[in-house]
Amino acid sequence: MNKITIIGTGYVGLVTGVGMAEFGNKVICTDVDNTKIDNLNSGILPIYEPGLDEIIKRNRKDNRLFFSSNVEESIIQSDVIVIAVGTPEGKNGDADMSFVFSVAKTISKNINNYKLVVTKSTVPVGSGKRIIDLINDKVNNQKLFDYVSNPEFLREGSALKDFLWPDRVIIGTDSEKAYEIMRNVYRPLYISKNPIMHTTVETAEMIKYASNSFLALKISYINEIANLCEAVGADIHKVANAMGQDGRISDKFLHPGPGFGGSCFPKDLEALLSISKINNVKMNTVEAAIAANHNQKNRMVEKLIALFSGDVNDKKIAILGLAFKANTDDVRESSSINMINSLLIKGVIINAYDPIANNEMAKIINNINYFDSLYDAIIEVDAVVIMTEWNEFRSLDLKRIKNEMRGNVFLDTRNIISMDELSSHGFIYDNIGRIKK
Ligand code: UGA
Repeated sequence: MNKITIIGTGYVGLVTGVGMAEFGNKVICTDVDNTKIDNLNSGILPIYEPGLDEIIKRNRKDNRLFFSSNVEESIIQSDVIVIAVGTPEGKNGDADMSFVFSVAKTISKNINNYKLVVTKSTVPVGSGKRIIDLINDKVNNQKLFDYVSNPEFLREGSALKDFLWPDRVIIGTDSEKAYEIMRNVYRPLYISKNPIMHTTVETAEMIKYASNSFLALKISYINEIANLCEAVGADIHKVANAMGQDGRISDKFLHPGPGFGGSCFPKDLEALLSISKINNVKMNTVEAAIAANHNQKNRMVEKLIALFSGDVNDKKIAILGLAFKANTDDVRESSSINMINSLLIKGVIINAYDPIANNEMAKIINNINYFDSLYDAIIEVDAVVIMTEWNEFRSLDLKRIKNEMRGNVFLDTRNIISMDELSSHGFIYDNIGRIKK
């Protein structure tokens, strides 16, 4: 049984630790935040992720999963150390590596026998070498550890599924011994013949950025095609559907929307751009994806204002959905932030409702009204705007909404409401890239 320590019990670290325990390893999830660890030990989770609660309970009961704030002691007890701390966006768009480097120093101080040091955090290409150097600096003996880049491809909201049934697992290392240990960590996957790829450290680091940037590019592309569909009278859903039938394109990530958000795409695109600048390599596509995304976020605001013929001053508007996508309470870089702030500047009163992200948004924006119920949020408003594709919003009682609001404007930035129904209830509405009746 591999003994693993995860350093950083945030979103990635927690899901990775729980997933590795589920694969049969003994895992200690550590964090410098004592409160977080105390909470986890009492069964209180720091994030919302479907299925996480049950799987944590089961693995703790089976003595495979532990939470500790004693990082040093956990390192000493383990053979595999996984770095899973955050790499937030730095001043110039580059990833801020201070947490990762500080962990590398802690590891080097506490290496007592051969260990595998694995990086899960998304780090700029070339970071592996710097981490190895930092550990070597203290250890001064290469043989005491091997290094692996093992990027994560977890989507918030379906992270457990992504970890337990991955499309691929990337193991970037120049050591055969390290590769074999990692294959063993992921043993249930390789016996069921899931793709495990052995690459160099730099290639593994690059795969992560290249994948995220491509997905972001795909979304920006379909958003721009949707905008063009509106201008020429074509239907984006049919266009995307037909494009998706082509196996070279695939139908995933072709849903137009209010622009991508979250803690990964915006930050990783900026980081890749920063790497490209340092290396003097122009990346027009990545620049374009970023620009298209800013434009898409602003376009949502313009659409709403256009539905009011340009004047929204003193209007009361209900924003349904604050999370950057459904099934998460994460609001980082959420398109609703831009929507709300742009409307506030124009003198709009905002009623906000999200099934689980109200508290997270309240930490960033506090001068709007938060509601615990959707149908309370829409009372006496002039417009309703859907910003997140929560299932709860797919089956809205439009008749009730229309009766309880004072206006009749409806903006559906996720294309989840039937246009026939919106028309039949007398709404003036807009959405993304569809042919209006
Ligand atoms: C993303 C990647 O999908 C993961 O593979 C990666 O591991 C993760 O970043 C990371 O780097 O940690 P995540 O940010 O959780 O995962 O969410 P996505 O499901 O990728 O959605 C990102 C944004 O794109 C959301 O705002 C979503 O609403 C938007 N989106 C997604 C669209 O507008 N259209 C689509 O078709 C798909």
